[in-house]
Amino acid sequence: MAKDVIIACDFDSKEKTLAFLDKFTGKKPFVKIGMELFYAEGPEIVKEIKARGHKIFLDLKLHDIPNTVKKSMAVLSRLDVDMTNLHAGGTINMMKAALEGLVRPDGTRPILIAVTQLTSTDQESMTNDLLIEKPIDQVVMHYAKNSMDAGLDGVVCSPLEAGKVKGVCGNNFITVTPGVRFADGEVGDQKRVTTPAKARELGSDYIVVGRPITAASDPVGAYERCVKEFLGC
Ligand code: C5P
Repeated sequence: MAKDVIIACDFDSKEKTLAFLDKFTGKKPFVKIGMELFYAEGPEIVKEIKARGHKIFLDLKLHDIPNTVKKSMAVLSRLDVDMTNLHAGGTINMMKAALEGLVRPDGTRPILIAVTQLTSTDQESMTNDLLIEKPIDQVVMHYAKNSMDAGLDGVVCSPLEAGKVKGVCGNNFITVTPGVRFADGEVGDQKRVTTPAKARELGSDYIVVGRPITAASDPVGAYERCVKEFLGC
């Protein structure tokens, strides 16, 4: 199975993003474009980064009625992204509709993964705000299983959950994991973090790394260190 490091390009403008990507003169990293950059610059930024030769994970976390998600996914698939996502909380029917919408006329489609429960949601907010009384771990695994049953390719999860997700959904079910930090780096606002090497050991297929690379004094060096630690090459 493919394994890679995805850089979270959490910038608020095209200028900042391209200035960052210009530093990479060798290998073109896999990049994640999230809501901040997409809402600032629109689909054009996706096309521009794609044209520069990067693989793209478009992280817009769709969640709406099945018909709307299906039609929106059809539009996003035309942007030629490599991976995109939605909220598993939208139900199995929404996920199935999303998959249908994503298939391009030539039969190809981006990898589709689901967010189970956001890592910002804890047991207390799930119980009190969402009235979901099961243990959060059980809910995450149930949503992962729903995603698999809907035909999705994988989930976004904590590296600490990756092994368990593989246990429930099989080894080919993709785990994309943020919350990665260097052993000697800043943790910032992430709570449950692991190093790139540990993430691989725990079963992550793709690690999403933002600030340890984007805020580094030597971003290219930090990216290369991450790849070396995660892929061992
Ligand atoms: O800068 P940092 O490495 O913390 O960035 C992690 C990226 O992964 C951010 O874009 C963040 O929004 C995203 N993410 C996350 N936790 C999730 C889902 C996405 O940190 N559960």
